[in-house]
Amino acid sequence: MPDAVKVGFVPFSAALRGILVVFCDDALKFGDAARKALGSAVGLVGRAAATSQFKGKSGSVLDLLEPQGLKVSRLIVVGVGKRSAVAERDFLKFGGVIAGKLRAGSEAVTVVSDLPDGAMEPEQAAAIAAGIRLRAYKFDRYKTKKKDGEDAALRADISMAVADVAAARKAFAPDSRIVDGVILARELVNEPPNVLFPVEFARRAAQLRKLGVSVEVLDVKAMTKLGMGALLGVAQGSTHPGRTVIMRWNGGKRGEAPVAFVGKGVCFDTGGISIKPAGNMEEMKGDMGGAACVVGLMHALAARKAKVNAVGAIGLVENMPDGNAQRPGDIVTSMSGQTIEIINTDAEGRLVLADVLWYVATKFKPKFMVDLATLTGAILVALGTEYAGLFSNNEELAERLIKSGTVTGERVWRMPLGPEYDKMIDSQFADVRNTGGSRNGGSITAAQFLQRFVDDTPWAHLDIAGTAMGAPKTDINQSWGSGYGVRLLERLVADYYEAKR
Ligand code: BES
Ligand code: MN
Ligand code: ZN
Repeated sequence: MPDAVKVGFVPFSAALRGILVVFCDDALKFGDAARKALGSAVGLVGRAAATSQFKGKSGSVLDLLEPQGLKVSRLIVVGVGKRSAVAERDFLKFGGVIAGKLRAGSEAVTVVSDLPDGAMEPEQAAAIAAGIRLRAYKFDRYKTKKKDGEDAALRADISMAVADVAAARKAFAPDSRIVDGVILARELVNEPPNVLFPVEFARRAAQLRKLGVSVEVLDVKAMTKLGMGALLGVAQGSTHPGRTVIMRWNGGKRGEAPVAFVGKGVCFDTGGISIKPAGNMEEMKGDMGGAACVVGLMHALAARKAKVNAVGAIGLVENMPDGNAQRPGDIVTSMSGQTIEIINTDAEGRLVLADVLWYVATKFKPKFMVDLATLTGAILVALGTEYAGLFSNNEELAERLIKSGTVTGERVWRMPLGPEYDKMIDSQFADVRNTGGSRNGGSITAAQFLQRFVDDTPWAHLDIAGTAMGAPKTDINQSWGSGYGVRLLERLVADYYEAKR
């Protein structure tokens, strides 16, 4: 993984090295450890703050080079705003802000993890460290040279100075695994579609075996035998054969029903015969963002040895126009037995999911099932890039997702389902058709279609077309592929299973 940031924990008493980072509130007050680190330079900071109008606002930075009276090469003061207003999720952001100030080749960095009212909690210091790693990620594998002013990926050796080294290390261990999962998901989304086609995607998912995940790869023959005619209908237009990958992590009680995650893995979506316009079509390499999230999530759960039973299932295809591609008007038979009339071959994600959802619901009888899919352009129209669309047949699951979204900052907004929408997707020739026949409610009719393939499993669908890729850069993400959903669902699982981990 292109992640050259090393994070370690040291006691407050350790010698300061390289760049010094301290925190202050909106009254420019420091904690004891920061004041000790600054020594007589506290006055200098006060004067510099006045000159540059630094007021300690949350996430703002005062940056001093070669500060007089300090042995460090640079001093970065990060504002946390009003102390009483600092929320848990801010610490990830503070980490991102710090990493955003560092340049490639920045040597050693010491982050003094305290606030005006005392040392940070181990979880808070760990979140800062995680935020640094998330921000530092950059996808530059295919750049053979750098333009002027373009930075290489960050390399840095970060020492988090904390009150309790062992406790902070312990808190960071799972967080760091979750960051690995997010970075893995980003990598998969960023990879070009000539490199990451279904077979290669399956091979990468199979690498989770190293973490103790059991991985089963269904090839075309196996899927034909299962009757996955909806997924196979999409796949048939490509020279790259489709795959379904089932990942199982059994860290929970033996025999206990799992929780399940299903991802849309369209490695490239041309639209098929209902071909898309050329403008921005290259972005459809990210149409496997749901599958990428599921792989990243399974990585995180397995690597942190979560005490849960979890299934991850991804449907991998490439949607291409071809002499053998499926046509509008075709009728395919899904694994559930329901027949589907193809109206638009560009509504392919729901066809892939129809079979994988049915497979997972009937084979594993999960406690609940969440799918993620870059499913509709309409969700971008409705929600933009800040919230994913949430659709669910289960109130408790929907509430849990909304809560995890608020806590992690990977937010979801609930959208409706309802039998009233069924008439839009009823077909005159088959059991169901693959579009609503109108742009109206496009994300809803897609979700209503999926619901016909989940049986009575408690289920939620996340339409991540606006959040998985091309979303605005943030303090903790500078990458086109955002890895959206890994932290959201990791938190959902943690809260669902484990009161405390
Ligand atoms: N992969 C697209 C949805 C998409 C659009 C994702 C923009 C990310 C950004 C999906 O397969 C698709 O083409 N959906 C169609 C459905 C329509 C044909 C009913 C759409 O949204 O236009
Ligand atoms: Mn499409
Ligand atoms: Zn698609």
